[in-house]
Amino acid sequence: MASNKKLLILPGDGIGPEVVREVRRVIEWMDRRRSVSFDISEGVVGGAALDAEGSPCPDETVAAARAADAVLFGSVGGPKWDSLPFEKRPELGVLRLRKDLGLFANLRPAVVLDPLADASSLKADLVRGLDLMIVRESTGGIYFGEPRGIEIMADGKRRGIDTEVYTEDEIARVARVAFDLARKRRNKVTSVEKANVMQSGRLWRAVVGEIGRAEFPDVELEHMYADNCAMQLCSRPKQFDVILGSNLFGDVLSDLAAALTGSLGMLPSATLGAPDASGRRHALYEPVHGSAPDIAGKGIANPCAQMLSFAMLLRWSFEMEEDAKLIETAVQRVLAGGLRTADIMQTGMARVGTSVMGEAIVRELDKLS
Ligand code: NAI
Ligand code: MG
Repeated sequence: MASNKKLLILPGDGIGPEVVREVRRVIEWMDRRRSVSFDISEGVVGGAALDAEGSPCPDETVAAARAADAVLFGSVGGPKWDSLPFEKRPELGVLRLRKDLGLFANLRPAVVLDPLADASSLKADLVRGLDLMIVRESTGGIYFGEPRGIEIMADGKRRGIDTEVYTEDEIARVARVAFDLARKRRNKVTSVEKANVMQSGRLWRAVVGEIGRAEFPDVELEHMYADNCAMQLCSRPKQFDVILGSNLFGDVLSDLAAALTGSLGMLPSATLGAPDASGRRHALYEPVHGSAPDIAGKGIANPCAQMLSFAMLLRWSFEMEEDAKLIETAVQRVLAGGLRTADIMQTGMARVGTSVMGEAIVRELDKLS
């Protein structure tokens, strides 16, 4: 029977195809052991698309992403394409997909798995059990606002300009995603801005407050200046549940939170669009890390971030919470058993490559179900 779960896989370039291959093992396992099948298509994006079709995000790839229920994305970019003009950069592949599909809410969990508590840049006690979620607005704000550019002033000197613009609707829709999430977690949202010095920040604080009072009175809402939040993340990270921020502040704070967890190779993300009348929404899932050109082709990349991105896909696009949990538990158990890829290597553990890690996760899934 044809599956009604349309999944588009875009491995990209660099380590993307290597780590996506390990997710394919899990997809095969689900088919075999849980009778869950997907209607899978595969497309090209980034450097792979540039090489094959001369564009980092061909129209067919965008059309396929629109038609899919969910997109699993690997990674794109690398020195091979560095000399190309800006409009041809492989990284534009993911930017175009985000923009064309209206993917405005970027969810980045920062979770410290028990076996990796020592890998953090902070003391293990401060981060053990850390589980926070950053919700970053991803289609507006200062990365897109006009005017922007570098211009020559009357005195012949240059001036660089960026503009932070947010409408109340843009703020409200991403705030709703954060509040909804908090309800399923520990019921607290920390909204960050610089309402003390930025007009868009004042509006941000006002709108998030209004949405909270009107639609989510049961969720605790705290407002925090973004600079204070950076400090609090380093000194007392466990006070947070969901952190909500603009494109810029969400970007900076989510990288900071990533560092608390120890490795890029462990961190997944989801980017969601607005639900339509039937509740269907576009969504793209990708690891936080990039294409890691320094280790591509060596078979040593950590597949866990890609694997955990697939777990998010199951949870968010297909409401398959049980299967998502199974994958997360399997990853955790493999780590607890002592296997480590090079990026998370600790003394006394066994160093393995990408496919041994992937196989071990599937074996653990077998034991769990
Ligand atoms: P990166 O995340 O690719 O790599 C940073 C460091 O972490 C490297 O030393 C790399 O080897 C290591 N690393 C990353 N993922 C790993 C994994 N799964 N296992 C083991 N080690 C891992 O970031 P970088 O070097 O700044 O960027 C490389 C390229 O990727 C650039 O062209 C950049 O623009 C692109 N990029 C693409 C993204 C995307 O596709 N969404 C996101 C971030 C960067
Ligand atoms: Mg960043």
